Amino acid sequence: MFISLRGNKYIGSYFTASSGSREKNITIILLILSDIYFLKICYLEEKCLKYITNSDKETLELGERIGAYLRSGDMVALIGGLGSGKTLFTKGIALGLGLGPETIITSPSFTLVNEYDCGRVFYHMDLYRLEGLSDMLLTGLDEYLDAGGVVVMEWADRWPAILPENRVEVRFEILDEQRRDISISGEGPRGMEIIEGLKGTDQLIAHS
Ligand SMILES: Nc1ncnc2c1ncn2[C@@H]1O[C@H](COP(=O)(O)OP(=O)(O)OP(=O)(O)O)[C@@H](O)[C@H]1O
Ligand SMILES: [Mg+2]
Repeated sequence: MFISLRGNKYIGSYFTASSGSREKNITIILLILSDIYFLKICYLEEKCLKYITNSDKETLELGERIGAYLRSGDMVALIGGLGSGKTLFTKGIALGLGLGPETIITSPSFTLVNEYDCGRVFYHMDLYRLEGLSDMLLTGLDEYLDAGGVVVMEWADRWPAILPENRVEVRFEILDEQRRDISISGEGPRGMEIIEGLKGTDQLIAHS
């Protein structure tokens, strides 16, 4: 169920994006394989945390808890369809990083990157409109990942090759109007460390 739901959605978006049928078939196979890989690593090996949020506020708070763990050089890759909660989650991260609630965080769909100063630099990127960008702009993007700030990237699955080895991946599924399924996994030693930290706050909440 999980695989076919995710698969259908992504296959849908890639069908409109790519042209040749051979390319489409390869894309479909790769997406299904990546889903199976994610499922195995995430759930069977218990390397991921899974949450259901029931409101905007709960998604915001989850983002804030991760944000509080991030330090310069960390990267969070957000993956999920339109309106699944990526920007809202990013607003939560911004709060956790120490930005005040008065700071307006909007999806940088046209500018690709928004930059904020919260004692350290916070880059909010959105790769939704990645297709059709010139090579020059694309080359500029990866420099943000090495710039030593905290990077949060929406639609990170649009350019998997750019993702650093150490990262947190957050996957969003829309369950219904108010509920989101949010799976958080850590890649690389630093990604795992952040997940362990987050697990710790789960326990604190459970015991309080
Ligand atoms: N539990 C929930 N968590 C997050 N958002 C929710 C939830 N329930 C309802 N919503 C609504 O879903 C929408 C999420 O919008 P948001 O801009 O965060 O999505 P997005 O994934 O960034 O979309 P896009 O891909 O267009 O940038 C908001 O309108 C929000 O009010
Ligand atoms: Mg968004």
